[in-house]
Order: sequence, then C-alpha cells, then structure tokens
Amino acid sequence: MDNKLHFFHYLHFLLLLSSSCFSLLAFSWIPYNENKNYRGSSDLVNLEYHMGPVLSSPIKLYVIWYDYLDPSHQATIRDFLNSFSSSSYAPHPSVADWWRTVRLYTDQTGQNISTISLSGEFFDFKYSQGKYLSRLSMQYVIKNAVMRSQPESLPLNYRTGVCQVLTSYDVQVPRFLGKQCPGFCAYPFAWPKNSGKPPPNTINGGNSLMGAPNGDPGVDGMISVIAHELAEVSSNPLVNAWYAGDNPISPTEIADLCPGVYGTGAGGGYVGQVYKDSWGNGFNLHGVKERKFLVQWVWNPLRRRCFGPNAMD
Ligand SMILES: *[C@@H]1O[C@H](CO)[C@@H](O)[C@H](O)[C@H]1NC(C)=O
Repeated sequence: MDNKLHFFHYLHFLLLLSSSCFSLLAFSWIPYNENKNYRGSSDLVNLEYHMGPVLSSPIKLYVIWYDYLDPSHQATIRDFLNSFSSSSYAPHPSVADWWRTVRLYTDQTGQNISTISLSGEFFDFKYSQGKYLSRLSMQYVIKNAVMRSQPESLPLNYRTGVCQVLTSYDVQVPRFLGKQCPGFCAYPFAWPKNSGKPPPNTINGGNSLMGAPNGDPGVDGMISVIAHELAEVSSNPLVNAWYAGDNPISPTEIADLCPGVYGTGAGGGYVGQVYKDSWGNGFNLHGVKERKFLVQWVWNPLRRRCFGPNAMD
C-alpha cells in the first residue's frame, strides 16, 4: 500500500483519541479515474519478518458504510466478509480456504494470524462529515459509529478490531488514509476506456477480460482489493512485521507480491487458470450463499510463491 507510514501515524492518532479500532481500512470506489499500471507477474522478492506483531487474536471486522448505499453492492460485500469464517459452509476452493494462506504467517512467539469475522456494521447516511474525509472527519465517522451503534453492535476493541470504512464513489479519502479503488481495481472485469492503452494481451493473443461473478465490475473488483488489504493489515498491522524491501514507507506486503495473479500460470496479462460460471463469468473462490468471487492470490511463506486454494499445482 502506498504511503504506509502516514497510515501508521494516523493509526496512532486514532488509537490515542478514540481507542476504537486496532486498524483502519478506508475504501472509496471511484470508477475509472486513476492510472495505475497493471503489473502482470511478481518478481521473486525477499519477504522478511521484522519482529513486530501480527493480528493473532480472532479478528473482529467492523464495516462502516459511509453513504455507500447500494443494497446489492452491500449484500455482495457482506456475503464475501461472512465467507471468511471456516464455519460458514462453502465448497472448496472457498474464501475461508484462501484465508488459510494468510494464517501461515506468525509473530515471533509463533502465534499465527487468526480467524476473521464480520462483527458489526454501521450506516452513516447523508454525508455526515461531508464528501471529503480528512483525518479528523474520519475520526468523527468512527466515533459516531461507536457511540450511536446498538449495544453489542460495535463493541470495539482496538486490540482485535479492524474498522473498514466503505464510502460511496463520490466521497474522497486522502491517499494516506486508504485506497481509492479506481478503474484498474475493476480489472480483469473491465478496462478503463480512458486509460489510453488497450488491455494487456495474454501470451496466446486476446485479453483476459471476463464477466464479473456478482454482476458489477466495480464491486467485484473491490472484493479483491478488500481481501488484499485484509491480508496485509493482518500480516503487517504496525508496518513492522511481514514485508519485503528495505523501505517501510512503501513496504511490499504479502498481497503486493501477487498483483493480477488469480490462478496457476498467471503472468504477462493472463490472470491464470480460473473457473467460469454458466454465464462465462470468471471466479476462483466460493463463498456463502452460493456466491462466487475472484480474488487475487497472496504470497505463501512456505511454498515461497503466490498461492491460492484454486492452484492446480
Ligand atoms: C501456523 O503457521 C505455521 C508456519 O507457517 C504453519 O505451519 C501452521 O500450519 C499454521 N497454523 C495454522 C492454524 O494455520
């Protein structure tokens, strides 16, 4: 993630003032407006452990919907987050199977990253803090969520809680607070028309564009970004645990090592071997309620390569 150090400073700020969440992920989905180069394959990088903590207590995830109101988008994201628990039934390869790769990371006492469960949701309507969320206004969004939520709904424990603020596409979140999910987040379901470039070709010609398994390129792309960020916040919550490279200001984390990799053989613009549903939409994981998702792989520390449960080898 870009500018992790700022994110880190914010995290302290957040802990001091509200003690509400251990960590914060903020997403704003902005369709097709940001150029980010597609990186087809990962280079071998020396991923190292820097002795800091990982999220080893059961991770409670709290979602704050900040004017993110489309009910079908919410349902897709909610079902995805509910699929992380290994008790939520879904056929193999499942979202819970995908999380097992993340759980292979440990801290210096040998504690693995824990399970993750959606533990509360809060709805913040009518742009209560405006359409540009600064550090301070983000703080208020969280404070409101904590104070106005039903008992038990957001019983925030900053040691085990991860807050995820999802905003509508017209809300701006400063880059240092999180990721704007731009057009390229929707790849491989769509390719930004104004990118000035054609989609990457695969080795055997053609391109990898495919239908979105839940019917919306933006939300289906955002699913993979959410998974990416959850993997990284769990394995590197204070930016002193698992990352590659010498620079903690822009660490290469366990999901940054596998951009564009969704199946065996991925690389050079090819997403790898994934499944097709009966409408021809691509997916690689099953979730609850017969959902299907396409989620990028993460670095497996034992196999020392990008890996996911749909791997053929
Ligand atoms: C914990 O991590 C170790 C080392 O990667 C791995 O061998 C073990 O299977 C992991 N345990 C769980 C429950 O994932």
